[in-house]
This record gives sequence, C-alpha cells and structure tokens, in this order.
Amino acid sequence: MNSTFEAIADGIAEHGFAVTDQFLSPAEVSAILALPEFQEWLDHFKKAAIGKKQTLHINEAVRGDYIHWVDNNEAPHQLKVYLDRLDQLVQYLNRSLFLSLKDFEVHLTVYPTGSFYKRHLDQFSRDDHRKLSVICYLNEDWDDQHGGQLRMFLPEKVVELLPASGRLVCFRSDMIEHEVLPATRPRLSITGWILDQHGALKHL
Ligand code: OGA
Ligand code: MN
Repeated sequence: MNSTFEAIADGIAEHGFAVTDQFLSPAEVSAILALPEFQEWLDHFKKAAIGKKQTLHINEAVRGDYIHWVDNNEAPHQLKVYLDRLDQLVQYLNRSLFLSLKDFEVHLTVYPTGSFYKRHLDQFSRDDHRKLSVICYLNEDWDDQHGGQLRMFLPEKVVELLPASGRLVCFRSDMIEHEVLPATRPRLSITGWILDQHGALKHL
C-alpha cells in the first residue's frame, strides 16, 4: 500500500487530486456491497418505492443521492477494512506532506438511475474542517455507456472519471469544483472527508 499512498500524496501535492485503482480489491468491494444498507436501497429502487429511515434525500434539483452516515466506532468489519486503510492514508499524508489531518467521516452513497449532483465545492464556508474529499466507488463492470462520471474542473482542464469498482479519488475539498453526471444504473460509493479536527459527524 505504501506506493499507493505515495502516489496519492504526490497527486495531491502537485495537482490537488489523485486517482488510485484497486484501493479496494474486488473481494473487499463485494463484501461491502453485501451490507444490508446497500441491499435494502437497491431493493427499494427496484420496487420504485423509496424512503427509508436514516436516508436523506436532499434538494433533488441539486443532488439526487441517498446517504447513510457511518459511525467509525461501530462499523461492520467489511467497512472497517476500508476505514483502517483510510486511517493509514491519513497518517501517510501527515508524514509526507506535513499536514495535521486528524479524523475522517464517511457515508454510504447511492445515486439512483438518472440522478446527479450539480457542480459544487465540498468546502462551503471558511471554517469548514473538510480538507480532502475521498470517494471510493463500488460499481462492478461499469463502463462508458453507464455514464455517472465524476467531472472535476481543474484550473487547466476538465477531468472525467468513471466510478469503477475499487477506484479511489481524493481531492482538495477547498479547491476542486466537481459534479456527478447522471447514470443509467444505480451508482454506489463510499463518500468521505478527511478533517483537520477530531469529531467526525459532530457538526452534522
Ligand atoms: C459529493 C460528491 C462525487 C462522486 O458527495 O459531494 O461530489 O463522484 N460526490 O460521487
Ligand atoms: Mn462533492
């Protein structure tokens, strides 16, 4: 993993973002997809009868995703694998980039077919403690025809990424505007932020 972490640190330092394939292995992704939250969401969407406790569906004109916040201390073992790896990444970034990142918060995310998230910045106010956005995608056999790209607006160009299984994207929350394009099938991910203070989810 150290060469992966090094590539992420270099990408963030040089370009404000980094993309890593196989941050999670296919087996690790399958185990996470089997979590009841994802399975229940997918069942609900199939039946087109949506709406579930702990599911927020905020302002559909801007974003159409369903989210489920993860308690880092109570996470099931399938997710713990991911959280432990993020923790190692945070420690690596602190050492190599002289940052003082302290904590992270993540939610499980589903974008139902056709939904999107309009262009935005993840850090919205001056006292926001979100420093890095980290998203790991969980979509097996995803290709161009499915859409759902993450489109990032960099100073010199626009970059589009498919939400391919096991892929991690990490970017500066204060700097990189981005949007999620609509997809032809449900689009699953773990979305999170690395914070410069302790107390994930405290501000919510
Ligand atoms: C977000 C977001 C991007 C993605 O949740 O803030 O921009 O690719 N997600 O899921
Ligand atoms: Mn975002």
